[in-house]
Amino acid sequence: MNIIWHEKTKQFHLYNDEISYIMYVQPNGEMGQLYFGSRIHDRDDFSYLTYRRMKPMVAVEAPEEDFSMELNRQEYPGFGGTDFGMNAYEAVYEDGSTVSNFKYASHRIFAGKDKLEGLPATYGSDEEAMSLVIILEDTRSKLQLELSYTIFQNYPVITRNVKFINQGDDEVILNKALSACLDLPDQEYEWMQFSGAWARERIPVVRKIVPGTLSIESKRGGSSANQNPFIIVKRSNTDEFAGEAIGMSFVYSGNFLAAADADTYGRLRLLMGIHPDTFRWPLQKGASFTTPEVVIAYTDKGLNGLSQSYHALYNNHLVRGKWKNRPRPILLNNWEATFMDFTQESIIKIAAKAKEAGAELFVLDDGWFGARNDDYAGLGDWVENTDKLPNGMKGLAEKINEMGLEFGFWIEPEMVNPDSDLYRAHPDWAFAVKGKTPALGRHQYVLDFSKDEVVDYIYDMLYQVIDGANIAYIKWDMNRALTDVFSNGTPAELQGCVYHKYVLGVYRLYEKLIAAFPDILFESCSSGGSRFDAGMLYYAPQAWCSDNTDGVDRVLIQYGSSYGYPISSIGAHVSAVPNQQTGRTVPIAFRGNVACFGTFGYELDLNHISEEEFCEVQEQIKFMKENRQLLQYGKFYRLVSPFETDQNAWMVVSEDQTKALVGVYTMRSNVNELDGRIRLAGLDRNKLYNINSCAYYGDELMCAGLVLNAENTRNYTMEQDYSSCIIRLSAE
Ligand code: GLA
Repeated sequence: MNIIWHEKTKQFHLYNDEISYIMYVQPNGEMGQLYFGSRIHDRDDFSYLTYRRMKPMVAVEAPEEDFSMELNRQEYPGFGGTDFGMNAYEAVYEDGSTVSNFKYASHRIFAGKDKLEGLPATYGSDEEAMSLVIILEDTRSKLQLELSYTIFQNYPVITRNVKFINQGDDEVILNKALSACLDLPDQEYEWMQFSGAWARERIPVVRKIVPGTLSIESKRGGSSANQNPFIIVKRSNTDEFAGEAIGMSFVYSGNFLAAADADTYGRLRLLMGIHPDTFRWPLQKGASFTTPEVVIAYTDKGLNGLSQSYHALYNNHLVRGKWKNRPRPILLNNWEATFMDFTQESIIKIAAKAKEAGAELFVLDDGWFGARNDDYAGLGDWVENTDKLPNGMKGLAEKINEMGLEFGFWIEPEMVNPDSDLYRAHPDWAFAVKGKTPALGRHQYVLDFSKDEVVDYIYDMLYQVIDGANIAYIKWDMNRALTDVFSNGTPAELQGCVYHKYVLGVYRLYEKLIAAFPDILFESCSSGGSRFDAGMLYYAPQAWCSDNTDGVDRVLIQYGSSYGYPISSIGAHVSAVPNQQTGRTVPIAFRGNVACFGTFGYELDLNHISEEEFCEVQEQIKFMKENRQLLQYGKFYRLVSPFETDQNAWMVVSEDQTKALVGVYTMRSNVNELDGRIRLAGLDRNKLYNINSCAYYGDELMCAGLVLNAENTRNYTMEQDYSSCIIRLSAE
């Protein structure tokens, strides 16, 4: 890993063993992009990659007569000069103009990586990462722009973010400040996004790139179930195992925009950042604004290669604290078992059965506080409901701990029901504009987390509940989109900051709780998977993936989630049948075989299943305990897509390639077919792998394939709906 500055040609080359990222100071002083992709040799001068010729009717950067930004690739383009593509930022100056010219002033290269104050970000030690900050200055206004880059030693990844600093005397207003722009020299790519809605999150969608712009966004306040802040561009012949692809992942949990702009000269511009429609940030003299981070990854090893880079980077350089790289506790959550209708006794019965099954953690979901007996009341009143918990959280935690289980509970700190003591005392703490009835979502309003006093108040209430009780886990939910976003008492000119400040408030509350209770495992949740993003993983290393716990639908949701997020982050539980959301009855074996490629747990009352099923649950938990390190942290491969076939197959391989687990699932049977055959991946070609009583070399399994016959799979068949199995490979 290195960052080279070629002083004479004013070119930077960031590289490690896998990738090169090259850029330069253009003739007008702005930064231009030269190359991003597979590692190439360094040279003093890459200017052959620029375009320096006159073209009819093209505007040039005077006094140059042959240089136009439009015909060259940019690092962080504005609008108003000679680049007519989609701009990465917009600064409005005192005189009303929006024309900038950010000229290179200086740069810093250093070992390691700076923190982003108040924001989630990847991190790396001096040995693991190297950073570059390029400082540019707008010639007229003295507005400074810092473009930051980090390259990691062992990952084909560049992280980027920017900072604006007002060094001039006059106020500047930022109307747009995206985090990264990546200009590519051709448009022979397909765009992949992960779209959905509540209960059908992160479904991969491929779109053709044609001249013009295409984009995805969230303006819901959170990153959303509808579009995920992660995109891929891939060559049309790239598949899971081979070919080029570039990913952009936003380490942020609020409104976002991700766009591709294909211009008429063959340039493809990728952009990602905070959504400009809900952003207006005034910068007084001396003030600065730092954007969140974007993680850009490159692969020539197919989509599995790209995903594996994100998985490893996020496990090793984003997740922090006690739970980093730790196998996750097997939990039982009472939500689908009881909803809010429970007593301490009924909870203890459920927990006792969970313990008997082998679970390690009991999670008390919604309904334990205030007047919370349905979703019309109580949110905001973070005080135990003593009808349900006579001895408070502490008392219940003690009882659960006595059984030999850890204990955790659910919160939704950003919200308030109109019917709550908190709202009655502080109606001005909820978002609303005067003269309009604010929209409701699940009968609740959104608290104004852009205000420190609101965040601090909620923190104090939660602190009271957690402190003294033995709490191992917290599920942090967020169950509605933001509407009517107006911060009471905040000056008019700062209302455009509120969406972003809200997210900063969420991060601040997380940070305060983590500082006070560093061992608690946080699981983020937002009506299931509506805020499943890299920003959240910095605070909560796992996320409830979806409220849809149907085994078959979960295959699709977890498969889609795996493109951008590690298996260790995917909250996955076995729930009761017929499934709440789909009405489908899928065998418990199938449900378990899907959930074990995730954090694993149960979301039902085990007292209500048959004796036979209970034995199966005990077996599942035993299996999970033996294999969770491999399942959650092994190298994950998608093998057969449930979006293209009636089957699904995926696998994990241990780092030393001696162990692997393959999950195979039939979603819809195909009658009268021969035994299926799956080509495995990631094995050592020369190792002999035992599968049940058979043994095969790695090259056989990867090239000829694993035959899904009775000897290899025990009882899997493609001829029966919801048949599934986990095949264990061992080369010891
Ligand atoms: C959301 C979550 C569920 C559950 C309920 C509680 O819908 O996604 O898992 O916690 O809230 O109200």
